[in-house]
Amino acid sequence: MKRLVLTTFVAATLHTSAWSADAPPLDSVKVVAGGYAKQMKSGLIEQMSKNGPEGGIAACSVKAAQLSAETSTQTGWAVKRVSSKARNPLALPDAYEQEVLNGFEKEIAGGKEDASRYEVVREGGLRYARFMKAVRIEPLCLTCHGGSEVPPNVEQKLSEQYPHDTARGYKVGDVRGALSVKIKLD
Ligand code: HEC
Repeated sequence: MKRLVLTTFVAATLHTSAWSADAPPLDSVKVVAGGYAKQMKSGLIEQMSKNGPEGGIAACSVKAAQLSAETSTQTGWAVKRVSSKARNPLALPDAYEQEVLNGFEKEIAGGKEDASRYEVVREGGLRYARFMKAVRIEPLCLTCHGGSEVPPNVEQKLSEQYPHDTARGYKVGDVRGALSVKIKLD
């Protein structure tokens, strides 16, 4: 896959390259991803405080789908959450996302707090700008993604709704997955 890594360091050269000159600036992509992450988290906290973990389950599924649709309409960016240990099979990563996730795991295991990547890639003859940002486990997440922390009523609900759930057994700080945003340039 032909690829141009858009680190902040090479960002200046990017504007002069015909291959990636039309890629949106990293800052604007970060605003889209940050807005999505913030709304997901506040929706989750709100629902959990009103309706307990069971309300949170709906927030984590319905809200994610709604937000993805809204973001795509408003910004043109396709935004989704991906994980190699997915609860929803639709969140399984594509080959590109899997490779980036592997890199994030290494960076975070190596002591970095955060990991993200923005680059222009060619797929099926077309160019896409792709941004990914690691999502890490916080104490709040353990109710539904932890091990023994998952209460029996949540356990039961999750097994009913997600019979192939693999998104369990996480500890605080683990890479849960990533936000993945993509826009077609050609
Ligand atoms: C109240 C339960 C609950 C809590 C708390 C929760 N999640 Fe989830 N999470 C879910 C459910 C349910 C899904 C599947 C959503 C769907 O159907 O798309 C999910 C899916 C995800 C996904 C998408 C990938 C996949 O496995 O399908 C990510 C990423 C994720 N959660 C991260 C987090 C993070 C990070 C936290 C803590 C900030 C968190 N979740 C807290 C219930 C929860």
